Amino acid sequence: MAGEPFGDYFRGRRVLVTGHTGFKGAWLSLWLARLGAEVHGLALAPEPGPGLYPIVRAGTFAREHLQDIRDFDGLRAAVAESGPHIIFHLAAQAIVQTSYREPLATFTANALGTAHLLEAVRALGLGCDVVVVTSDKCYENREWDFAYRENDALGGHDVYSMSKAATELVAQSWSRSFFAKDDSLGRVVTARAGNVIGGGDFAENRIVPDCARALAAGAPIGVRHPESLRPWQHVLDCLSGYLALAARIAQEPKDSPLVSAFNFGPATHDFRTVRALVEEMLRHWPGTWEQSGPVFAGKEAGRLRLAIDKATELLGWRPTWGFDEAVKQTARWYREHAAGDAVGELRAFTVGQIAEFERAAFTQGLAWARGA
Ligand SMILES: NC(=O)c1ccc[n+]([C@@H]2O[C@H](COP(=O)([O-])OP(=O)(O)OC[C@H]3O[C@@H](n4cnc5c(N)ncnc54)[C@H](O)[C@@H]3O)[C@@H](O)[C@H]2O)c1
Repeated sequence: MAGEPFGDYFRGRRVLVTGHTGFKGAWLSLWLARLGAEVHGLALAPEPGPGLYPIVRAGTFAREHLQDIRDFDGLRAAVAESGPHIIFHLAAQAIVQTSYREPLATFTANALGTAHLLEAVRALGLGCDVVVVTSDKCYENREWDFAYRENDALGGHDVYSMSKAATELVAQSWSRSFFAKDDSLGRVVTARAGNVIGGGDFAENRIVPDCARALAAGAPIGVRHPESLRPWQHVLDCLSGYLALAARIAQEPKDSPLVSAFNFGPATHDFRTVRALVEEMLRHWPGTWEQSGPVFAGKEAGRLRLAIDKATELLGWRPTWGFDEAVKQTARWYREHAAGDAVGELRAFTVGQIAEFERAAFTQGLAWARGA
């Protein structure tokens, strides 16, 4: 419907979100529920401790499967039960540092898990489109100043990055070998995003959760790599790309240039250092930061830029909240959480941020927000 976000494409559609108990998956599920989708989740049980999932759970999911994607038979049975029209595949071991401790578990969850999911869809003959979420880290990082484009070489120094490059190849191969040729199957696309920020992330060794934990405790924020340059973007900006892509490819033939890989990153001027992120955070939540020693022996990428021309040209997508707004909205969420609001209030606050984001995108004339 014209005028509704994403042309009202998701209303009444059954959408399977893998990784729904995680940070991005919980935000995406909540947004899809707001858009009128019947949301099914598939993931491991949530990590103990705080998280967005326990806040958004009530009222969001029609059905949830606690299922390891490394178990093919269990996964296929869960996908069959859901019978989705669309799948957003976010389930993954998502932390670089963890991949140094658990390389095989990372590789199997990320690369083999994606093969299991696509093979389950193929074996079941489901005509659903699949958006496979990978990462900016799937590119062979040459530490250069140029932004990476979708046709740049894949690679990966650490196992996490390599597993995301491998996930790209898995998606490409299943798409070319099976999905593209079979009219009963849907389309497979991949989405590569950078470092997302936003309320509700409580992962270890990520700078924003580290900030929130330190500030809530009145302690200085420990920063390991203040000069590292990262493509920070608000989680809603990244998710608006995934949703716009899914809604758009549904109208496209399988040989369309849109049935392919897309970068979703911030505008070039919003690539900032970790130091800039922390200092902006402190404008909204007063405190201090200090340089802390490295906590792991692995290699961290120094610079990584993403080119978003393809998404802008083909989807009319561009970021809505710039760096300052993204940090401000993130700080607002964590301060609300730190104030000890009840779960229902935090859910309503989170939905309010989605509504605010939709309004900002509409005002800026974003195609997806205008329902185009
Ligand atoms: N957060 C970021 O900055 C960022 C940046 C680029 C790409 N990504 C990608 O986005 C996706 C979501 O990231 P996130 O930050 O929400 O991660 P997260 O760690 O918060 O959540 C991961 C989700 O995957 C599920 N999962 C992990 N292993 C699984 C398994 N074996 N079987 C079933 N489910 C499993 C978890 O239960 C959880 O629901 C991941 O694919 C990640 O690699 C994230």
